[in-house]
Amino acid sequence: MSILHVYAAALLSVATVGAQSLTGRWVGPATTADDGLEMTVALNQSADGKITGYVLGTRSTDTVIDGKVNGSEVTLEAERPGRGGGEPVKVTYTGLLVNGKLQLTLPAFGGRAGRSAGGGRGPGAAGDAARGANPTGGPPPGGPGRGAPQVVELAHVSVETPMPLPPRPAPVSLPMPDKVKFNGLAKTPPMGWNSWNKFRNQVSDKMIREMADAIVSSGMRDAGYIYVNIDDTWEGAHRDANGNITTNNKFPDMKALAAYVHGKGLKLGIYSSPGPKTCAGYEGSYQHEEQDAKTYASWGIDYLKYDWCSASQVYDNSQATMAGAYAKMGNALLKSGHSIVFSLCQYGNLDVGEWGERVGGNLWRTTGDISDRWQSMEHIGFDLQPGREKYAGPGHWNDPDMLEIGNGGMTDAEYQTHMSLWALLAAPLLAGNDIRNMSPAISSILMNKEVVAVDQDKLGKQAVRIAQEGKTEVWCRQLHDGGWAVGLFNRGDATAPVAASFSSIGANGSHYVRDLWGHKDLGLMAGEFSSDVPSHGVVLVKIAK
Ligand code: GLA
Repeated sequence: MSILHVYAAALLSVATVGAQSLTGRWVGPATTADDGLEMTVALNQSADGKITGYVLGTRSTDTVIDGKVNGSEVTLEAERPGRGGGEPVKVTYTGLLVNGKLQLTLPAFGGRAGRSAGGGRGPGAAGDAARGANPTGGPPPGGPGRGAPQVVELAHVSVETPMPLPPRPAPVSLPMPDKVKFNGLAKTPPMGWNSWNKFRNQVSDKMIREMADAIVSSGMRDAGYIYVNIDDTWEGAHRDANGNITTNNKFPDMKALAAYVHGKGLKLGIYSSPGPKTCAGYEGSYQHEEQDAKTYASWGIDYLKYDWCSASQVYDNSQATMAGAYAKMGNALLKSGHSIVFSLCQYGNLDVGEWGERVGGNLWRTTGDISDRWQSMEHIGFDLQPGREKYAGPGHWNDPDMLEIGNGGMTDAEYQTHMSLWALLAAPLLAGNDIRNMSPAISSILMNKEVVAVDQDKLGKQAVRIAQEGKTEVWCRQLHDGGWAVGLFNRGDATAPVAASFSSIGANGSHYVRDLWGHKDLGLMAGEFSSDVPSHGVVLVKIAK
């Protein structure tokens, strides 16, 4: 073939590609992980080139309002429903037509590099919850993952003009439920490990086994970290013919996995949603609550995190309905015949403290997602917790989200602050780091017995902020032996003196003071305890009765 022929053939193929109409349905995997999740792009390209249709992802449906084809390059301009019924958000998909397939780049969402796709809800996460929004509508329909944008390949499965999507059914309303019987669990805040903060959709059977091994060999189990919790992305893409929830190929045998974890003296946790889909777009428990609870029980699951997510698309989002949806699973877990800790995750919306215990919750998230940054941790820990102490007690805890200690985004001093504050808050302590590779500094933060003992104090009283001056704060928690745990915190940029007067904690006279990070008795003190506190650091003491 002459050069001219090759040139002509190339021109012809570009022209042919250019002439390929986008009209029809394009179907393919919704993520680059081999997990069976699918997405559909349905398009209508009119004679004048206008493109309309929709992108049916795993967690949202985007309406395509415009687009263009330039040679093999495709651009789709779409709109995604806004959070909490707010203004629609503009989303741009880009794609390439290659050999009749559409290679589609899923738009990154959430702002922050490295955690843009899925999970990371961007810098405003905690604030979103505080404003009463929920994360639905945030990340791309493609599901979770970190780093580079995901490119998925879709096949042109039909060339018919697609039918418009049927309108959404009217939202379901439920009455405020009767009180669900207490399951008798979590008399102190649950402790363990969860896969999400560090590993997102990388969690697998193999990883859970390795993590269980490491929890034992590192001493974490003996320090109290008992629950090994699988977060989102374990589920199969579809239920089986009988409607049973299935696992995807990262989890070949959940029952065997539970047996392995139990064999180590640990417990196994799992994750689902009251909605049809989880936050990462996998199968949720909507209309399968009892069936799923039974399945979990048959596997030997000991803990369920139940995440609102797509429930906002089927329920009316009132307090009664949300409580009703959670109570369904609370009752189902009780009926399952196995003891399963019930962890509510609805980002603290609709005054969950007022009804979390009533629906059988052993703990409930109080905010949007934490991230491994000082600003996220301090905002959630210091700003969004005051006032919630009245809801915490044995069996039912406020959850300011899982620990980021050891994930690399904060200094050791900041992680000490994170650990101290969570212990004072009687928060669940769910480590979120790679236990298999932990530095001595990180393991000594997570396993400081005296700090863990504050968290696990059986009186179950959550700390109150008793003083705040500029960037310094004092938090105090009453302990079962009549003493007090007191944290002197410094959120500022330079070392600062901080004092806790004994009268402010309800004590008189002189008291023995012990430094819980220094493991040192500081002696008898009169009137107050004071210390210099480094920037972003903490001095945590126990003041004896
Ligand atoms: C939500 C939750 C997170 C995590 C992800 C999983 O964002 O708040 O803790 O469970 O979903 O998709």
